[in-house]
Amino acid sequence: MQARFVTFEGIDGAGKSTAVRALAGLLDERGIDHILTREPGGTAVGESIRGILLDRRSEISPETELLLIFAARQEHVLRVVRPALERGAWVLCDRFADASYAYQGGGRGIALDRIDTLRDWVLGTLRPDATFLVDAPVELASERLGRRGDAPDRFEVEAQAFHERVRATYLALQTREPERIHRLPAQWTPDAIQAHLSEWLTSVCGGAA
Ligand SMILES: Nc1ncnc2c1ncn2[C@@H]1O[C@H](COP(=O)(O)OP(=O)(O)O)[C@@H](O)[C@H]1O
Ligand SMILES: [Mg+2]
Repeated sequence: MQARFVTFEGIDGAGKSTAVRALAGLLDERGIDHILTREPGGTAVGESIRGILLDRRSEISPETELLLIFAARQEHVLRVVRPALERGAWVLCDRFADASYAYQGGGRGIALDRIDTLRDWVLGTLRPDATFLVDAPVELASERLGRRGDAPDRFEVEAQAFHERVRATYLALQTREPERIHRLPAQWTPDAIQAHLSEWLTSVCGGAA
């Protein structure tokens, strides 16, 4: 069976990390080799860049933010994503390139063709085989974040309108690529989300464990 590159997207607090862990559990049950990774991050340098990006004390222009994210992505794709796929392991990634369109494009207002240029440079033809958009109303996501209780990062402190633009851009991406991007309503219970992921996995791999 061919290894798949699966990404999870959505606004902060939507339930991405919960969903990605659910799929990892299903792969474990089937004995399918996989790695769990995230963006920005996934490498030592990428995690350092993540620290800069999330630090509320960082003063960063939208363009610098985009370039830093793609710098981290270059390392991640080179050292983690491609090697895993090449050895036949599935790659489950908590956020990937769609997030640059949603956050730096929709959220910060950078022209999408600029992002296309960086994506084509850094990714070449690499694209996720499947993407799950955990789609949450902004109020629900911020309520969940509040319950999680850690200090808000540089993105989380943005105004509600910013998160609304990010969500709307994710939904527009989903409408444009419905074959690749599957929408998971964040209002579903974790069990319902896991059941959907399990069905999807069966459709991709067949019923055999
Ligand atoms: N489908 C769900 N229903 C109810 N609560 C959820 C669901 N998914 C996640 N949560 C809870 O919401 C909070 C944020 O979830 P998390 O997966 O960390 O979101 P994200 O990674 O998108 O920021 C966590 O406390 C988590 O337990
Ligand atoms: Mg998370």
